[in-house]
Amino acid sequence: MAALSFTKLDDADFEQLRAYVYESCGITLDHSKHSLVVGRLQPVLTREGIANYGDYVVRVKADHTGRLRSELVDRLSTNHTFFWREADHFDYFAKTALPQVIDARRRSGNKTLRVWCAAASAGQEPYTLAALMMDTLGQEYAAWDAGLLATDISAQVLEKAKEGVYESEDVARLPEAMRQRHFVRQPDGRWQVHPKLRAEVTYRRFNLMNPSFPFKQPFDVVFIRNVMIYFDMPTKLALMGRLAAVMRPGAFMFIGAAESLPPEQRSFESVRPGVFRRP
Ligand SMILES: C[S@@+](CC[C@H](N)C(=O)[O-])C[C@H]1O[C@@H](n2cnc3c(N)ncnc32)[C@H](O)[C@@H]1O
Repeated sequence: MAALSFTKLDDADFEQLRAYVYESCGITLDHSKHSLVVGRLQPVLTREGIANYGDYVVRVKADHTGRLRSELVDRLSTNHTFFWREADHFDYFAKTALPQVIDARRRSGNKTLRVWCAAASAGQEPYTLAALMMDTLGQEYAAWDAGLLATDISAQVLEKAKEGVYESEDVARLPEAMRQRHFVRQPDGRWQVHPKLRAEVTYRRFNLMNPSFPFKQPFDVVFIRNVMIYFDMPTKLALMGRLAAVMRPGAFMFIGAAESLPPEQRSFESVRPGVFRRP
């Protein structure tokens, strides 16, 4: 068996790669990640026949399809997600945030409801949120202009999300009633999201580092969980400003349990662990 040989990642190339990843995706790579980077990117260099990391960065930048950049982010970050992750957030969303938002929208006489899942990965989180929206509004749902936008930088996970097919162990994490109502068992034992629920989620590729957030209507709730863990404080601070600008006053924001906001940010007020509100 041929031994796997690794291309040397010298300091100058590491710096070039680090700067590119930071500018284009906001992901912070420090020198402690050196061997992780080599381990994760070596298969790409081998497959593409690229001699060194400097040439690799040149190729990624020149690839206007975005395929190599998308793969780079996939390899350096994790798309790991699962149904009902950090379950108390879903409980708070369904029992507290959503009823308050619905009530405020009703009083305004405008029955629009916009939720954004901003690091959607393979779809487990956005489908759960859309299911909770449908279940909370019940019969009334059809009378609302309600919808969920799910975005991610990775084209690969978005394809999986759109397909909406999950292993039974993954779907088993959901409350039984939700699984029965919103998922259909396939002949191979896997579960697919019901077409009615799939129709409520719009998937788009979107990089949170984009300087402008071109959304037509303001959001009432934003889930942005377990992505800011890769971003440094200045990146998070700037992101808070861009997020707040596309959220309605009083809108809720949910972040991951292991994440925190920069102490100097003034865009959001803390409500409870991981939950914030636009004043
Ligand atoms: C660990 S997953 C989190 C999934 C889900 N929100 C959860 O909490 O389970 C992080 C996701 O963030 C995405 N991501 C990383 N950098 C991003 C960026 N700059 N813009 C948008 N999405 C990004 C990754 O592709 C990945 O799917």
